[in-house]
Amino acid sequence: MTTVAVVGAGHWGRNLVRNFHAIPEARLKWVVDLDGARLRKMETLFPGIRTSRELAPVLEDDEVEAVVVSASARAHHELAKAALLSGRHTYVEKPLALTAADAEDLVRTADAAGRILMTGHLLLHHPAVLRLKDLVDSGELGDIYYVYSQRVNLGIIRKDENALWSFAPHDLSVMLFLLDAEPATVSARGAAYLQEGIEDVAFVNLRFPDGRMGHVQLSWLDPHKLRRFTVVGSRKMAVFDDMEPQEKIRVYDKGARATGEYASFGDYIGLRFGDIWIPHVDSAEPLRLECEHFLSCIRTGETPRSDGRNGLAVVRVLEAASRSLAEDGAPVALGPAR
Ligand SMILES: NC(=O)c1ccc[n+]([C@@H]2O[C@H](COP(=O)([O-])OP(=O)(O)OC[C@H]3O[C@@H](n4cnc5c(N)ncnc54)[C@H](O)[C@@H]3O)[C@@H](O)[C@H]2O)c1
Repeated sequence: MTTVAVVGAGHWGRNLVRNFHAIPEARLKWVVDLDGARLRKMETLFPGIRTSRELAPVLEDDEVEAVVVSASARAHHELAKAALLSGRHTYVEKPLALTAADAEDLVRTADAAGRILMTGHLLLHHPAVLRLKDLVDSGELGDIYYVYSQRVNLGIIRKDENALWSFAPHDLSVMLFLLDAEPATVSARGAAYLQEGIEDVAFVNLRFPDGRMGHVQLSWLDPHKLRRFTVVGSRKMAVFDDMEPQEKIRVYDKGARATGEYASFGDYIGLRFGDIWIPHVDSAEPLRLECEHFLSCIRTGETPRSDGRNGLAVVRVLEAASRSLAEDGAPVALGPAR
C-alpha cells in the first residue's frame, strides 16, 4: 500500500483524488490546495483525509511516499521539485513544466534522487491508444505516412494558458508514442480572438526526421466536439475516435499504390477499398489505469510509460510550437533529443 498526497484539487485534480481514494493499493492521506473552500469540499467527500494549503507539512510526514501534482501548470516545476528533493515518487499532470529547461531539471532531479517521475499523459494509458500502438508496431497498417489529430470543442476557456498548452500535450504525447520518434521541426499558426495574447486556435505541424508528418488541430472555439486521431499507413488506415462510446477504433483496409503500369493514369495509381474492421477495446477508465500504473512502477521500479523524459519531449515540442506561433508559422528546429 502506497501513501499518497494529491496537490491541486481543481477540475482535474479532484478526479485524481477520487481515484487514489478508491484504489486498494493506495492510501490517500493528504490533499493540498491554496483554495480553502476546495479543501473543505474534499474533506466532506472523503472523510478521514488530511488537508493543507501548503505542501511543506506533507513533506514532513514520513508516511507519504508519493506526491501527485495537479496544480496550475505554472506551479508544477516548484511543487514537483520539492517533492522529488524530499525523496517522494512524483506524478505531475501535463504539461510537466512550462519550459524545457524546467522539465529537464525535474528529470535530472528524479534521476539523482532515484525516484519515479511520471507525467500525466493520460492517453498513453488509454486502451484504444495502446491498441493503436499495437496496430502500428505489428505492421498491420504498413509504413506510417502521416498522423493527424483534432481536439476541438466549445469548452473551458483558460486565462493562464492558451489552447496549445492546454490541449496539445495529449495529441503530441500520442504522436511521439505511435511514431516512436521526436520531430525534427515544428511549425504552428494560431490566433487569439477572445483574450489578447492567449491563442484560442492553433494548427501545429510536425516533421519527423524520416519524412513522416504529424498535424494537430486545437481549439476551444469550435462548433464540433472532436477527439480524433487518424493514422494513414501504406497498407491500411486507422481512426481512433474518443467521442465514440463503444467503437473507438476503426481500421480501414483502404490504400493507394503505384502499380508501375503506364497504360493510363488510372492504371498507374491503384486504389483499394476494402473492409472496415472494428477491433475490441477495453472500456476501463484511462485515469484509473494511469494511477494504477504509477503505483505499480513505484512497487516494481519499472519506468513509467509516460515518464519524465516523455514529459520533457512533449514540452520541447510545445516550446518550439510557441516560438513558431510567435514567428507566424516559421519552422523551428528541435535539435537532438535530450
Ligand atoms: N490529463 C488530463 O486529461 C487533464 C485534464 C484537465 C487538466 N489537466 C491538467 O491538470 C492540472 C490542473 O488542471 P485543472 O483543470 O484542475 O485546473 P484548476 O485551475 O481547476 O485547478 C488547479 C488547482 O490547483 C490549485 N493550486 C494552484 N497552485 C497551487 C499551489 N502552488 N499549491 C497548491 N495548490 C495550488 C488551485 O487553487 C486550484 O484549485 C493542469 O496541469 C492541467 O493541464 C489534465
